[in-house]
Amino acid sequence: MHACSCLKTLYSEACVEFTSIKGFKDILPEESGYWQMIETKVRRLLHLFCFSEIRTPLLEKTALFSRGIGQDTDIVSKEMYSLKDSKGRSLTLRPEATAAVVRAYIQNRLYEKQPLQKLFTIGPMFRHERPQKGRLRQFHQINVELFGDPGPGSDADIIMLALELFRVLGLTDLTLHLNSLGCQHCRPHFKEKLNRYLADKRQDLCADCKRRAETNPLRVFDCKVPGCRAVMANAPSIIDSLCDACVLHFQRLQEYLTSLGVSFELDHHLVRGLDYYTRTTFEIQTERLGAQNAVAGGGRYDALMELLGGPPYPAIGFAVGMERVIALLKEMGPAGKESPDLFVAALGERAQEIAFKWIQQLRKADLATEMDYSSRSLKAQLKYADRIGARKVLMIGDNELNSGTAILRDMSTGSQDEVKLDGLIERLCEGIRSHE
Ligand code: HAM
Repeated sequence: MHACSCLKTLYSEACVEFTSIKGFKDILPEESGYWQMIETKVRRLLHLFCFSEIRTPLLEKTALFSRGIGQDTDIVSKEMYSLKDSKGRSLTLRPEATAAVVRAYIQNRLYEKQPLQKLFTIGPMFRHERPQKGRLRQFHQINVELFGDPGPGSDADIIMLALELFRVLGLTDLTLHLNSLGCQHCRPHFKEKLNRYLADKRQDLCADCKRRAETNPLRVFDCKVPGCRAVMANAPSIIDSLCDACVLHFQRLQEYLTSLGVSFELDHHLVRGLDYYTRTTFEIQTERLGAQNAVAGGGRYDALMELLGGPPYPAIGFAVGMERVIALLKEMGPAGKESPDLFVAALGERAQEIAFKWIQQLRKADLATEMDYSSRSLKAQLKYADRIGARKVLMIGDNELNSGTAILRDMSTGSQDEVKLDGLIERLCEGIRSHE
């Protein structure tokens, strides 16, 4: 029996001892095409919008997130993966990127280098939530932050980037939801108003929200418990409490978007689940993913830099959930597979040796090339070449080597040609490339 079939039989009978952790997923080769396509298109778009990449560590001091995101948020109070290191310091796997990017921005004094900074980062985040469709414990975000501009123009540009990102990925049927959460001047008035509204409704709130109503009433809007939702459905709207400067900012943003032909829905309950937001908040939502309907979310956070010990610097950003984007893309069809341009089917030891040299040469010439290492029958090799989607197959054996020729098969049409070995590699590179 062939070694591979032996292994297959063995493992199908044995039970798998090690599996990945619940909510942590492998990205298998059949899915990686989506990830590569998204990253390639998004990186190109971010370049057009003049963003530069920043990469921060996955592990940070816990206090960065508890202070930055807010103690009363679900993320900090329930969802962080925290651990103690050997010196007893509390560390946390980043549940989001914004606080970490701001930390890096302050620590590296990036604000001194250039007043306006546009940064993006792509990578995994960790939240201990209940896994379900579109919700994982390790998930990936494309995270975008703009530092140094307080005006509604940068809000509009950031929102345009978020929308453009979905357009280049070919995703439609998305809705932009927009709100303003006011600033440090007007938010306290709204909190008082909310407190008064909630005062005689405590008995209808869940235990968490009873506490939140005291400490941070805005967070009651995040609660998914039906009783709390019913209470918040009639809660006062923050828009009625905005100060003049916040009203003007929000109006200007809407004018920008309208002038660009962007439609949006005002959603006065859109408080987002993180404490750092000021003024503009937004989400891009879909109706096709069930409960996890936000494919991107973000907003302005003008006070976060100072809160984390930096200079007072305005900022706005957003993050896209990549698994949710892929779920939407999958509905549209399979991702383009990474298939070889050429498969070399070599029969016999001499042909194998020569083929091995050729594939190195062809790869250097930028052609994705594969061969069979174990010298199986021609039929088995052709079957395999077909399975991995090779566009062409070059067949050589002792006879061909003696006559200085080989056979080139086009896998899409099945047609075969005899080709001369002399200068073959150069001609193959040219021929295959001219069909790209
Ligand atoms: P967020 O709304 O918590 O915002 O997350 C942004 C996006 O990440 C969500 O809209 C969703 O698509 C995705 N996401 C969140 N949690 C999960 C999960 N458990 N599984 C799968 N996808 C998930 C932030 O993280 C902010 N830092 C965004 C931001 C950047 N605001 C300003 N700058």
